Amino acid sequence: MSVRKHRIAVVAGDGIGPEVTEVAMELLGKVAKNRQFEVELKRFPFGGEHYLKTGETLSDASLAELRQHDVIYLGAVGSPKVKPGILEKGVLLKLRFAFDQYINLRPVKLYPGVECPIKGKGPEHLDYVVVRENTGDMYAGIGGTMMEGTDDEVAVQEMVYNHKQVERCLRYAFELAAARSRKTLALIGKSNVLTYVFKLWDRVFHALGEAEFPQVKREYYHVDAACMMMVKQPERFDVMVTTNMFGDIITDLGAVTQGGMGMAASGNLNPTRAFPSMFEPVHGSAPDIAGQDKANPLAAVMSLKMLLEFLGEHDAAADVDQAIRAVTPMDFDHMSTSAIRTALLAKF
Ligand code: IPM
Ligand code: MN
Repeated sequence: MSVRKHRIAVVAGDGIGPEVTEVAMELLGKVAKNRQFEVELKRFPFGGEHYLKTGETLSDASLAELRQHDVIYLGAVGSPKVKPGILEKGVLLKLRFAFDQYINLRPVKLYPGVECPIKGKGPEHLDYVVVRENTGDMYAGIGGTMMEGTDDEVAVQEMVYNHKQVERCLRYAFELAAARSRKTLALIGKSNVLTYVFKLWDRVFHALGEAEFPQVKREYYHVDAACMMMVKQPERFDVMVTTNMFGDIITDLGAVTQGGMGMAASGNLNPTRAFPSMFEPVHGSAPDIAGQDKANPLAAVMSLKMLLEFLGEHDAAADVDQAIRAVTPMDFDHMSTSAIRTALLAKF
């Protein structure tokens, strides 16, 4: 029998990216050995330092090289030495768009032992997943400026969605909800103000749900009310599906409720597998604490778990989950990166 083999492109990136990526990759090596599959890792230098040295954010040739991989693992991209927008658009968003990673999957799950900032809530109250649409909305870059620098300056940034983007995102969210025990999907929108865009989302949501997913309960929340409920009654939520911009914002709120940005993982998925999917912690490069052995690598490790699930390595993903569960009851907020690394690796 031939050994399963996965080709993984690793972009450790900037700031704390390399430190947390190292922990995740070490763990990957262990679980691959335990579960008898092979990984072929190829490291890529993209990020702030690479851009300052070479002027390249991410060239078409680099994209073509990345495309040869099954998945991409990304640490964090962002540098205070580079003007805002260049690396975000030139690396992160470029990858999401070029590889049509149309789902940004962001679980909000409170692990046992992690202190929840919401009074009276525990792991039984926080276990939902946000499906953030990842290709449209204000992120599409439609807009422009005129009469810049004058009192008459006009700036436009359009919220753009087409039917295909909406349908494929909703379909993914319904499938996910149908596979979970509570089978509940909440559309998060702003249909009382953004009437054009949410007319489309709402219509497809109900048509698709009725025709193909009658077993999934459909709910709707305005995004502002959803934020309130994510704090007041997070146990209401099972799967949430939302637009790109709202998804960006509410998942930072979700991250705080599950113990902070150091605990939030994500997958940028192309569910058709026509292009590589990309897994990354939700946090940024945190240059203020880089290189000081202070970064929490758990979000990076949770992103590795999502990567393994996507590759079908469910036993390995479960091993990573066990390693995380060995750490979360500890006082990890006050532990160094290397102490958390040791604790994660203890059982291997
Ligand atoms: C995220 C980030 C990115 C986004 C930025 C860095 C472009 O905030 O992954 O949530 O807005 O999507
Ligand atoms: Mn964000």
